[in-house]
Amino acid sequence: RGKRIAVPATSANLGPGFDALGLALGLYNTCEFRPSNDKEIFEENLKENLIYQAYKYSFDFYKEKQVPVSFDLEADIPVSRGLGSSAACIVMGIMAAFDIMGRDFDKKEILKIATSIEGHPDNVAPAIFGGAVVSILENNQVYLEKIAISDKFKFLALIPDFRLSTKEARGALPETYPKADAVFNISRVAMLVLALESGDENNLKIALQDKIHQPCRFKLIPEIGKIEEIIRDSRALGSYLSGAGSTIMLVLKKDDQISEKEIREKLGKLSKTYDLKALEIDKK
Ligand code: HSE
Repeated sequence: RGKRIAVPATSANLGPGFDALGLALGLYNTCEFRPSNDKEIFEENLKENLIYQAYKYSFDFYKEKQVPVSFDLEADIPVSRGLGSSAACIVMGIMAAFDIMGRDFDKKEILKIATSIEGHPDNVAPAIFGGAVVSILENNQVYLEKIAISDKFKFLALIPDFRLSTKEARGALPETYPKADAVFNISRVAMLVLALESGDENNLKIALQDKIHQPCRFKLIPEIGKIEEIIRDSRALGSYLSGAGSTIMLVLKKDDQISEKEIREKLGKLSKTYDLKALEIDKK
């Protein structure tokens, strides 16, 4: 028997916190891995499979001799929907490599490697640490704080049946921003972290606004106007594009039962198919 690893889905940005904030969710990719003698299959998987690539990257990072490995993946996180499926695979590969190299499971060390593969820390950090996280990687040093999200809120993922590539969604963003947009986002990120902790609904609503990535990315989502209308008419406290999309995350009051049913009915009338999934926060 091999060893098992489970890594949670994540929802990055949380509106204004582009490349900085992320949240781990109760939806998982799980794998069983074991050292393998079949070097050929290992090499073959390395060409396309992110788990194997992250595994190999970790051995190279520490200049250790490769040990071929095989992974059996059970993937519950939908791909290219802004729910951190790539981050989960990267973290999985690194964790397996740490296990086989016999290294301590130092989470900050794992985060450092994962961020250098993914390029931004906001999915891999909550995937490793659980809960909601603010993370900064600067000069190879990881800085991290956890946000204690109030239990007055719950999260509902509106998952479209179409994919959005992170590369394309990052390519849609401008290189520079006006000072007013920077100020707009700075004030909201600060407010968001505090409102998530305090449970203040009014502050949460305004704090989820963003001018850095959502305005450009919403244009990549078909029927966005109709979806926004449904969200506006629902009793959602706020919503944001999860990661680079295509999932839209709704924040609701914990005890709100009706919104979910209403939203589901209205989504059923649109031309694309949308899955609505209530997701718990993974607190590790
Ligand atoms: N912060 C990243 C982005 C998350 O918005 O592009 C997606 O991987």
